[in-house]
Amino acid sequence: MLRTHTCGQLTSKNVGEKVTLCGWVERVRDMGQSQFIVLRDRYGKSQLVMPPDASEELRQVIGSLKQEFVISASGTVDLRPTGQANSNMSTGEIEINLSQVTILNECKTPPFLPSSPDVPSEEARLEFRFLDLRRETMQKAIILRGLMTKKIRDYFADNDFIDIETPILGRSTPEGARDYLVPSRVHPGQFYALPQSPQIYKQLMMIAGYDRYVQVARCFRDEDLRADRQPEFTQLDMEMSFVEEDDIMGIIDGLMKKLAKEILKIDLKLPLPRLSYDEAMRRFGHDAPDLRYGLEIIDCTDWARYVDFRVFRAAAEAGNFVRALNVKGASESFSRKRIDELTTFVQGDYGAKGLAWMRFDANGWGGPIAKNFNESQLAELTKIADVESGDVLLFIADGWDASCRALHGLRRRLGADLKLYDPNAMNFSWVVRFPMFARDEEENRWAAMHHPFTAPLTEDLPNLESAPGAVRAKAYDLVINGFEAGGGTIRIHDNETQQKVFGLLGMSPEEAEHRFGFLLQALRYGAPPHGGIALGIDRLVMLFAGLDNIRDCVTFPKTTRAQDLMTDAPNRVDEKQLKELGIAIRERQS
Ligand code: AMO
Ligand code: AMP
Repeated sequence: MLRTHTCGQLTSKNVGEKVTLCGWVERVRDMGQSQFIVLRDRYGKSQLVMPPDASEELRQVIGSLKQEFVISASGTVDLRPTGQANSNMSTGEIEINLSQVTILNECKTPPFLPSSPDVPSEEARLEFRFLDLRRETMQKAIILRGLMTKKIRDYFADNDFIDIETPILGRSTPEGARDYLVPSRVHPGQFYALPQSPQIYKQLMMIAGYDRYVQVARCFRDEDLRADRQPEFTQLDMEMSFVEEDDIMGIIDGLMKKLAKEILKIDLKLPLPRLSYDEAMRRFGHDAPDLRYGLEIIDCTDWARYVDFRVFRAAAEAGNFVRALNVKGASESFSRKRIDELTTFVQGDYGAKGLAWMRFDANGWGGPIAKNFNESQLAELTKIADVESGDVLLFIADGWDASCRALHGLRRRLGADLKLYDPNAMNFSWVVRFPMFARDEEENRWAAMHHPFTAPLTEDLPNLESAPGAVRAKAYDLVINGFEAGGGTIRIHDNETQQKVFGLLGMSPEEAEHRFGFLLQALRYGAPPHGGIALGIDRLVMLFAGLDNIRDCVTFPKTTRAQDLMTDAPNRVDEKQLKELGIAIRERQS
């Protein structure tokens, strides 16, 4: 070992010991007679001091140090002079009186200093990721990630799950995104698909009798990236046999309780609250609602049917909806300009047709549309929307989906703007009973809301073919602070229902056989009832670490354009490689 201790280890207990530390020079402070160096490694920081009687040689080495040089430093542990202890540092009581410093490696002037409190530009961070990863916030997140993964693995091992690996090179798995394809050299013109998830393999493992499967699995999805999405990410993937929804949610409840307790020191009450999909859409306009605050949607459609305001009545009469948010106490702070901003925001980002509003305060009802309503209508509205003095009502009149979208967007924006929640609060819940199918309007057909192996609710089975839109699924999503942290379902375990569902999804029996023949085949050979779930580990870490972006807990993430700026991937390959694969590049057809 080149060092005796780490930079975060020494305390007053070590006074008098001769030690050697290794690390990166964070700062050199020249105090005339003496020089101070702050040395850093992932464990912490230690203060090194050049003694007044230092040799010329030591003076010279210290004089040549620059930030981010890697050095080894030997000396004796001393108590800091009285009044100079730093209680913010684990090593704040001591300093190291240097006898020798060796430069292990120099550092070019870095594009940014890992020790600076300023966050460098995203591009610099991604290009010089090894420097970015030296920053304390990144080190915390990456270390937390390792710790969480270990705790998750331990939990499943303690619960008798078998850790099982499944292939990366395989057949396309339908999770709704595009596949990343890998060309085969041995079979020119043919491709493997990287797994969007191990979904089918884990189901096959159930059929094979491994009734508690778990895997920390890399998944690959070629989809538009956002703050909570990466093209490759990691799932905690699990599957169980002979279970129903409650069993899967129960296992994950237990995992959340353990993680919340051990990492956040929060006691979660189990079972975690559950909300049906319908209720979530009705109250919050979204299937992953942020339940850290209220600001629930108020349905005013029945009331709107009888009012003179054209926009509202026309919506109600056309079978659309008039729904509102009551922003409590906002009447003073919501200027005209602020409301115009919100209007542009819901129109631009969420496709709303408009934003109607009214305020109620000491002067009575106000706002441009207030004059459209008579007294009894206003009195009724007061009741429906629980209006008190100081409130502002924001209305969206539109179809169900459009009004959900717009009100969810508004609610999220207002929640953040008005600081309606404690940013350190954590809220865990389940959204259950999702619809089986969503209408794909562009292609005029049904699409699987989760994936095509999801089982319908038993009570809805009779409607499977007659009214697919009304059929709900044995599906559940884990929602944390308004993010979908995980999702799973009970699966179809008989070939007949599976064929029916493929049919409803517009797949002919031949196509189903071609794409999933191996699964349909396996379902005929003694498939047990089974189900499971996958949690997004990147998202879990992001949420537990209180980060805004998933990139901040991924070592080498991709940009929103799916590039790795450090290694410059993706990139061209040699003509020879292409030739071996039988691939010729065509210019993009515009
Ligand atoms: P699903 O597609 O819902 O389900 O994915 C499960 C969880 O994985 C995370 N996730 C992502 N995280 C980062 N970047 C992405 N691009 C990304 N996509 C998904 C989310 C999500 O909740 N096979 C099923 C699970 C099952 O049914 O058992 C599946 O993959 O946190
Ligand atoms: P108009 O009569 O079209 O000028 O609309 C009057 C007010 O209603 C304006 O403030 C619009 O922003 C708002 N508005 C128009 N359409 C809608 C809608 N679909 N939902 C909510 N408000 C709307």
